Amino acid sequence: MQSWRSCVCSWPFRAAVISLAVSIALIHLFLTPLFPSPLDFFQQSNSNPLLDANSSVVSTLKAQFQSNIDGSVTYRGAPWKPDIGRWLAGCSSNSTPVDIVEVLGGKKCKNNCSGQGICNQDLGVCRCFHGYAGKSCEVVLQLECNQPASKDHPFGEWLVSICPAHCDKTRAMCFCGNGTKYPNRPVAEYCGFQTIPPAKPGDPELTDWTKVDFENVFSSNASNPGWCNIDPRDAYSSKLKIKENCHCKYDCTWGRVCEIPTICSCLNQCSGHGHCRGGFCQCDSGYYGIDCSIPTASVLQKWPAWLRPSIVELPHNSPNVKTAVRKKRPLIYVYDLPPEFNSHLLEGRHYRMECVNRIYSGDNKTIWTEHLYGAQMALFESILASPHRTLNGEEADFFYVPVFDQCIITRADDAPHLSNQERGFRRTFMALDYYKKAYDHIVEEYPYWNRSSGKDHIWFFSWDEGACFAPKEIWNSMMLVHWGNTNTKHKHSTTAYIPDNWDPIPSERRGDHPCFDPQKDLVLPAWKVPNPGAVWLKLWSRPRKERMTLFYFNGNLGPAYENGRPEDTYSMGLRQKLADEFGSSPNKEGKLGKQHTPNVIVTPLKSPKYYEEMASSLFCGVLPGDGWSGRMEDSMLSGCIPVIIQDGIFLPYENVLNYESFAVKILEDDIPNLVSILQRYNETEVEHMLSNVRSIWQRFLYRDSILLEATRQRELFSKDEAWAVEFSKLSEDDVFATFIQVLHYKLHNDPWRGTLLRQHKAGLPKACT
Ligand SMILES: *[C@@H]1O[C@H](CO)[C@@H](O)[C@H](O)[C@H]1NC(C)=O
Ligand SMILES: *[C@@H]1O[C@H](CO)[C@@H](O)[C@H](O)[C@H]1NC(C)=O
Ligand SMILES: *[C@@H]1O[C@H](CO)[C@@H](O)[C@H](O)[C@H]1NC(C)=O
Ligand SMILES: *[C@@H]1O[C@H](CO)[C@@H](O)[C@H](O)[C@H]1NC(C)=O
Ligand SMILES: *[C@@H]1O[C@H](CO)[C@@H](O)[C@H](O)[C@H]1NC(C)=O
Ligand SMILES: *[C@@H]1O[C@H](CO)[C@@H](O)[C@H](O)[C@H]1NC(C)=O
Ligand SMILES: *[C@@H]1O[C@H](CO)[C@@H](O)[C@H](O)[C@H]1NC(C)=O
Repeated sequence: MQSWRSCVCSWPFRAAVISLAVSIALIHLFLTPLFPSPLDFFQQSNSNPLLDANSSVVSTLKAQFQSNIDGSVTYRGAPWKPDIGRWLAGCSSNSTPVDIVEVLGGKKCKNNCSGQGICNQDLGVCRCFHGYAGKSCEVVLQLECNQPASKDHPFGEWLVSICPAHCDKTRAMCFCGNGTKYPNRPVAEYCGFQTIPPAKPGDPELTDWTKVDFENVFSSNASNPGWCNIDPRDAYSSKLKIKENCHCKYDCTWGRVCEIPTICSCLNQCSGHGHCRGGFCQCDSGYYGIDCSIPTASVLQKWPAWLRPSIVELPHNSPNVKTAVRKKRPLIYVYDLPPEFNSHLLEGRHYRMECVNRIYSGDNKTIWTEHLYGAQMALFESILASPHRTLNGEEADFFYVPVFDQCIITRADDAPHLSNQERGFRRTFMALDYYKKAYDHIVEEYPYWNRSSGKDHIWFFSWDEGACFAPKEIWNSMMLVHWGNTNTKHKHSTTAYIPDNWDPIPSERRGDHPCFDPQKDLVLPAWKVPNPGAVWLKLWSRPRKERMTLFYFNGNLGPAYENGRPEDTYSMGLRQKLADEFGSSPNKEGKLGKQHTPNVIVTPLKSPKYYEEMASSLFCGVLPGDGWSGRMEDSMLSGCIPVIIQDGIFLPYENVLNYESFAVKILEDDIPNLVSILQRYNETEVEHMLSNVRSIWQRFLYRDSILLEATRQRELFSKDEAWAVEFSKLSEDDVFATFIQVLHYKLHNDPWRGTLLRQHKAGLPKACT
């Protein structure tokens, strides 16, 4: 550093005065630090009694933050377990930002990744697009759409992907191809082959995977063109008929014959600094990272909020740029993994609804999807855009490893290169392999794992049974899941869906860990589509007197019912037991439950008023499906007191929030006594629980990531859709805020941190360190 120069600049820079050619070594930017995090709402009081305390943190906190009658300690409206609530109220609420040095990489990649990938400038390593490989992405892969052909199977044996037309071998996707009028139109599996008419009415229609459907798909007969030759205008006229199985299954198009280009789904939509290639962010020059959120020195004026520096340092002889940023702990480092663990899974996906929690309509408006596992995307987007993110691994408190288990599992067997045959078609086993490979990668390439044997690393397992199938190597880490099975009672895989059953995974791969360890892991709420109606109607706030149904459960009740799941082991047999006692709709034999009574509803009949009905109920059942089932979330969002029936299996935040304050737990063996147990709660207790449900329901919403999307859409349309309007009105802590609070508590209270902790400035009141 030879010269210092300072300037008072507004943000963003009025002009892009900074270029690397200019020999500026340091620029001071006098900025108010931006911390849009919901953690920042509270007022800081000037006198903090903790600062003067000389006793141990715990006893001071105990005196200051007394517990409520139900044993909880309130922090930001939520009833926490007492020690956690106290620490957050006394310490986290008074934390201050610390100066962190962020180092921005400036390493070049060989041959700029041949234009077929994005350069990770931290490592100087290419992240190649789907179907490209090699040090500079110079290798073009040949990814087959079909399994090897044989005499009996000219297009190979059936796999999810099977293609009678042009196979784009960089993505293993099927298109109409040359010789047709619309060569880029997708050919869905069931579209391209002949259908076998059902033998008798009502039987399912089958497909003959050996015979191409020339007539309906490839015919160019002008009076009756096939799918690949039909003009968009004609597609909408009733005169021409399009084969039903032909549709736009791939992302990025819309319309009857895929004639309308739309925005594709990418993480954070490439942060506005890249082009979304069907799931892979092709970053503009000057940016990299999975969502193009990491800037380089060449684009100083457009840095994201989470990196806005107070001081930027541009060394003369090093490609790296250092900036000092004021940030609040906990700080999270996100690994920019090779794309096989995330972006490729998105880019190569065969159904646009797979893996993501939103797609875009023909006019590029957001369509939120019911994708059950959407939390993995929502949480990751929040982390990527969060002021708690850091690029400095030395300063980081936590390390997020973004492997998308839900996408691996839904895409297993999508194409020959994802074939899962050698693992006996066990999808969970396949997912284990990905996590293990990601572990191998970070242990080899980065220095951070060994500092704590991975204890400060975070992995998300969003599938039905959570982290049961985590490879043994990563079990020290913190697991984020939707299913907190401690394996104390339910020791084996609980799914009735065989490809997901993890019991057969060899123990030398899985070890013998439980699925969930409450000492280190966290159950997060499942994704729920932002439902503006429910927010607008304030379902969560319905008062006691409007909740006349005592108990409500609506869902699949198993084999005894019409369209019920056929397996006795579904829901570990619990929903069946509940229906046996309290069923309020007739089963196949026309019978109601043994103890059915008028104000108890246990039904498998889908209701368009599902949420309304819950909002008219006092207690709502939370029972498993094949693993987690999202009932806890439904119950909270409707302001209904959750009644949890699953022994030894934790629910969202159960190891940090004080569940007695807002939920009822009933032992599986007590199902016959359900109603009498519920009736024992007096009105005071009921009102108390209802009011706690109302004060924490927003902690079950992924509002942060939903509002990130609202902001992006506003930039495109200068107008908010209903979901954006309603969600913008909410202001209490959501999933992401809660997650950060839990990390902050863990950072300073996990006993293993010890010396690691002392090397960092914490930003806590003295008495808390
Ligand atoms: C702090 O130390 C002083 C003197 O050692 C003692 O009198 C006082 O009781 C201590 N305060 C607490 C809260 O323990
Ligand atoms: C490098 O490749 C990327 C991705 O194709 C492209 O956006 C960028 O403009 C290229 N940069 C240079 C300097 O050629
Ligand atoms: C289709 O035809 C064009 C023009 O003749 C050619 O450049 C292209 O390589 C062909 N594509 C395929 C997939 O055969
Ligand atoms: C084209 O389709 C029409 C209507 O289906 C049919 O009558 C005609 O024979 C077809 N022409 C040819 C050349 O196949
Ligand atoms: C939607 O976005 C796509 C991709 O960016 C673009 O090609 C298309 O023109 C847009 N459509 C509308 C209606 O703005
Ligand atoms: C981390 O530890 C493992 C096993 O002890 C060792 O093989 C590896 O080289 C270490 N990695 C680094 C980056 O030090
Ligand atoms: C309700 O129950 C609580 C605790 O079990 C008890 O303290 C309270 O007196 C009861 N209230 C009424 C009105 O019975």
